[in-house]
Amino acid sequence: MSRSDDRPWWQTAVVYQVYPRSFRDTTGSGIGDLQGIIEKLEYLTGVLGVDTVWLSPFYPSPMADFGYDVSDYCDVHPMFGTLDDFDRLLARAHTLGLRIVVDFVPSHTSDRHPWFAESRASRTSPRRDWYVWRDPKPDGAPPNNWLSVFGGSAWEPDERTGQYYRHSFLREQPDLNWRHPPLRAALLDVMRFWLDRGVDGFRVDAVQFMLKDPAERDNPPNPDGEGRAHQPLGAYDSQLHVYDLAHPDIHQVFRDMRAVTDAYDPPRMTLGEVHVYDPVELGTYYGAALDGLSMPTNFGLFRTPWTAAGVRAVVDGLEAGLPSGAWPNYSLGNHDDRRLATRLGEAGSRQAAVLLLTLRGTPILYYGDEIGMREAAVPPSRRQDPWGIAAPELSRDGCRTPMPWSAAPGAGFTSAADPWLPLGDDWKTRNVESQLGEPDSLLNLHRRLLALRRETPPLRAGSYRPLDAVPDDCFVFSRIRARQRVLVGINFSSEPRPVSLPGFTGRVAVSTHRAAEGSAVGRAITLRPHEAAVLVE
Ligand code: GLC
Repeated sequence: MSRSDDRPWWQTAVVYQVYPRSFRDTTGSGIGDLQGIIEKLEYLTGVLGVDTVWLSPFYPSPMADFGYDVSDYCDVHPMFGTLDDFDRLLARAHTLGLRIVVDFVPSHTSDRHPWFAESRASRTSPRRDWYVWRDPKPDGAPPNNWLSVFGGSAWEPDERTGQYYRHSFLREQPDLNWRHPPLRAALLDVMRFWLDRGVDGFRVDAVQFMLKDPAERDNPPNPDGEGRAHQPLGAYDSQLHVYDLAHPDIHQVFRDMRAVTDAYDPPRMTLGEVHVYDPVELGTYYGAALDGLSMPTNFGLFRTPWTAAGVRAVVDGLEAGLPSGAWPNYSLGNHDDRRLATRLGEAGSRQAAVLLLTLRGTPILYYGDEIGMREAAVPPSRRQDPWGIAAPELSRDGCRTPMPWSAAPGAGFTSAADPWLPLGDDWKTRNVESQLGEPDSLLNLHRRLLALRRETPPLRAGSYRPLDAVPDDCFVFSRIRARQRVLVGINFSSEPRPVSLPGFTGRVAVSTHRAAEGSAVGRAITLRPHEAAVLVE
């Protein structure tokens, strides 16, 4: 075992997010399923070369928020298969050396969850306090001014008992009450249910929403109206979310979760969904004694300008701001954001692949980004995302469309005439099969980068150091481990750029411009326009 492997597995992992509805449909329903994921596991391991999969929710759900509204935490929605299918998926993945991380949605359930049915039945229900119920103001108004991310008040009146319940997202997603010990215990047991089945960890959804100001003070207005997140959130951006996000007692929840996962051998991972852009504050989510989340997600690269200075500022900020021992992670795509290739374009997508797979930290890739899937145009009649139905400019449908595996009818995704969301316009030419056949494709670039990462300890676990004496529009950094040095150079300009590399001799191991690969490098290199290259000593 090389020294780089003496660390928790998730620090040397490459995570790939699968959105089950859109990966592969084996029943002809037009919606992907677990059997479809099983069929594609060998693509993930043998063809692409990732080692960890994060599965977005596959639990029973009325699908008001496409599975992020869970009505049973310990089962599989029949549309996706059965628990047996899940067990087969896990067993097959583990045989292939692939780890499985499941999405855990602890901040809210579906309003159809039996817990909520009991809770809303009466003020004296034993489950009343599993959710957050409050009296109206004397004039009948909601208890305070907090907003739902998806629009309108975060409080929904419930006639039967004359109180409001809180929902940070849809009204069909009532918030759970994490200050109520029995609820807490029940949710930690949900984690154990999946851990006992053998899952390798959790992506933990929306963790900042779980605990809010106990005094429930009104949020102040947002003076400039400009959102603080990396994407605009519509009316939600009209307030500063001072009191309705991440009250400090949230960290005790992370410690409790960590105690659960650490009781398993090897320790399992928690990747918490955190939208915090200040690295020092983000660092607190790892826990004061690194006993919090294994990793909070880092969305820094989504928000920064795609320039050498912009990208370097995010990386340097994180390297300087995270506490010692806290391991970074990087991503540029997921099921909530516009597609990477649409935001960054063709050249940017190639640079992004090099960056994500060579930075010091765990890369998290989103399905389809390895072939450069574009944000799909979804006609109004086919809109699905409830957020996008209310506010079309915020729709997340375009980044959730089916994975095109080939140019066969249904793109090798489905035999149904109409998948649940339409295929992107370019699926006949942009698909896995066609890109495997093109040496210069984005998919083959990912494969070469992943292969290099596997065999190059500095890329998995080496130190990070930026080089200063380089052109302004280039970002160049070293990764060093056990005296082996790897350099990564990214030219963000559309002109060639000479870069001096004092004391370095080696070769171009992988480049966005394949013709450069294999060429010798001695103390300097001229990066082609938009080139990103990995140089190995
Ligand atoms: C998270 C999920 C998102 C979901 C929301 C509510 O942000 O990533 O898809 O809508 O939580 O559960």
